[in-house]
Order: sequence, then structure tokens, then C-alpha cells
Amino acid sequence: MQIDNFKVEDWFNEYEKLAKYDMADTCVESLSLNELLNIVGCNSLHQQDETVKVGCSHHCTDNIEKEKYLEEILSKKLNYGDIQGSERLHNAIKSLYSHACYPLELTVTHGAIGANHLVMETLIERGDNVVSIVPTYQQHYSIPKSIGANVDLLFLKEENNWIPDINELKNKVKNNTKIICMNNPNNPTGAVIPRNILEKIIDIARENNCYILCDEVYRGLEHNGQISKSIVELYEKGISTGSMSKVFSLAGLRLGWIVAPREVMNKIIIHREYNTISVSILDDYFSTLALENKGKIIKRNLGKILEGKKIMSDWIESEPHISWIEPKGGTTCLLKYDLPMISRELCKKLLDDTGVLFLPGETLEMEGYLRAGYCSDISKLKKGLNIFSDWMKNI
Ligand SMILES: Cc1ncc(COP(=O)(O)O)c(C=O)c1O
Repeated sequence: MQIDNFKVEDWFNEYEKLAKYDMADTCVESLSLNELLNIVGCNSLHQQDETVKVGCSHHCTDNIEKEKYLEEILSKKLNYGDIQGSERLHNAIKSLYSHACYPLELTVTHGAIGANHLVMETLIERGDNVVSIVPTYQQHYSIPKSIGANVDLLFLKEENNWIPDINELKNKVKNNTKIICMNNPNNPTGAVIPRNILEKIIDIARENNCYILCDEVYRGLEHNGQISKSIVELYEKGISTGSMSKVFSLAGLRLGWIVAPREVMNKIIIHREYNTISVSILDDYFSTLALENKGKIIKRNLGKILEGKKIMSDWIESEPHISWIEPKGGTTCLLKYDLPMISRELCKKLLDDTGVLFLPGETLEMEGYLRAGYCSDISKLKKGLNIFSDWMKNI
């Protein structure tokens, strides 16, 4: 099967290790196992105390709850575990979708990347019509294309604050459209689709009887703290994918999921049996612990996001060559620059000269922009941005 190069992954594979200041990462600073167990341990040990934080002051390293978890982990037999994911994990994931009311099913996958792939290979066939809202994670247009679908791209525009233009979508979605692929909150723009616009998108899909695959890996990281509705909470042909990577800062667990209507899930499971079997029981175990403590992890992450966004925002105000539409969710933003260079050239030269790494907009079909992450390593963010400013003065 021929498929286009995954441009973002190619970029990171080649340059990430060379970065001294990585300004391109999409994760909120990842948690160590120690930090995770401290959060979990603190849960029951200090339930009376509302000030509990990661790295809290309760000497959690010697807390007995943590010891209890360690003992449990060390005694685990490394078998296949529950093939669809443990019941406890399922319950923890379902708590993220509390308002869905029609028959929905859930399965666990190898990250959101595995989830998206499974949905697309299950539903899309050669000759199908697919509408993908871009910029987005490249899977959402390159996989359908590789299957032989006709992929129509709807570009988000800066003048619409990166929110999809409903009239444009109406023109693209036809009664032979199989699926709309989108990502909300959006990587790279950081836009969060308001509820009324989401409902209009759903109306268009419903009129044309097509599915919506909504990649919701950043759902839970809305900056105002108001978690947006999942597509499966609003649309009977909606399919949601999610994972531990962004919202829970646990990308190393490689655990994601699909929530879909039952008849879709029945088909997905057939495909899943060929490429997943199960996820690691350790991933299942740690993900369950994290999800059962979701409030604390999200609070920690929103704190870092807002701190990083403020640094970014102050820098942009003082930086004449850069502008942005302030992100409302997730961990990334697009920076528009007015320098006489294409984005790959700019990023490569900047990295060679200074060790500062951004992602070129071209890898996201967004020439003239850079993608920045602002919450992976906040201690280096300010310094990296200042180095970038000094570098621009000499261009
Ligand atoms: C929008 C989006 N979807 C999916 C993924 C893949 O996530 P995971 O690490 O859960 O496989 C990413 C990773 O950057 C992403 O940004």
C-alpha cells in the first residue's frame, strides 16, 4: 500500500534529537511513573486535603499507598491481559463521555494513532468521498488517500479564528460523502470549535448521512476549563478517538481508544483483531490509575499550559515579526512570520544556528507558519523564544 511520507514525523525523526530548545513538542511535560504514583497515592492518603499537587509536600515518596501500587505492579503476570482492555479501564474511559446516551461501544488501541488508523481502515474504501478539515494530524487525509478515497480538504483560515467555515463545509459534503475527519481541539491551531458550530457541522453530516471521525486527543485541555462536548455526545454517527498522550501527559503508555456506535464498533473489532490483539497490561494498569485521577492531572496540565501560553503571548506582543491567533485549547499554536524564507528553510537554519526547534508549517500544509508547543519544557521556553528573537534581528 502506497502512502505519503508523514511529514511531521519525518521532521522530528531527523531533527528532534539535535534540539537544545524544543519548541515543537505537543505534550504537556510528561509525567514520570514516580510522579504518577505520587498523584495516585496522594489520592487516598490525603483525600481530606484539597491542596494536593504533583510533587506535593506530603513526602509522598514514602507513602504507603505508593508502596501498595508498586507491589501490585511487580507481581503482575505479563500475559495478554483483557483483550479489549480491562473492565476498570473501560469504566475510567467511559467517565470521559458521561453524556452519551445511545448504544456506544469502546475499544482500546495502540495510542490515538492506532485508533484513527483502525477507524479509517474499517470505514473507508476505494472510491469513497472523504472531507478532511486541515491543518490536522496527517493521518486524517493521507490514510484515506492511500486507501484510494477522494479526499477533499477544507482549510481552516486565520480570518475565521481557525474555526471551520460552515458554508464551505456545506459545499464540500455531499450525499455520497462517507466521512468527515476532524480534530477538536485542533492541533496545530489550538482552536476549539464552539458548540453551536459543532452542531452545524453535525447537521450537515446528518443531512448527508455521513460519519464524523473526531480526533479528540486534546479534549480536556480547553484553556477555560470547560470541556467541550464529544462528537459521540451529540451525533449518532459520531466516532471519537482519544488517548493518554496529551491530556494525561503519558504518551509513553501508548494507550488510546475508540468510542463508536455499536454497528461501527462491530466492524472495527474485526480489523482490530488483525493488528492489535490487546494493549500491554502495564499500559492498561497505569492508564486506569491516571484516568481515575483525571481531575488532578488535568489541573496540573492546565496550570502548565496557561503558564506557557502567557510566556508565549508576552513574547509575541514584543516581537514584530510574529503574530498568532491565540489558542483556546490543546498545547500548540500556529505562529505567522513575516520573514523572507519558506518555513523549512527557516526552521532548519534556526536549528543549525541556535539549537531552537520549531515545526515548519509546510509539514502541515501551512506554509508561512511555524507550529509551536508551549508547555512541554516551560523552563526553556522563554530562553528559546529570546534566542529566536535575537536570531531574527540578523536575518
Ligand atoms: C491530533 C492528534 N491525533 C493523534 C495523535 C497521536 O496520539 P497518540 O500519541 O495517542 O498516538 C497526535 C499526536 O501528536 C495528535 O496530535
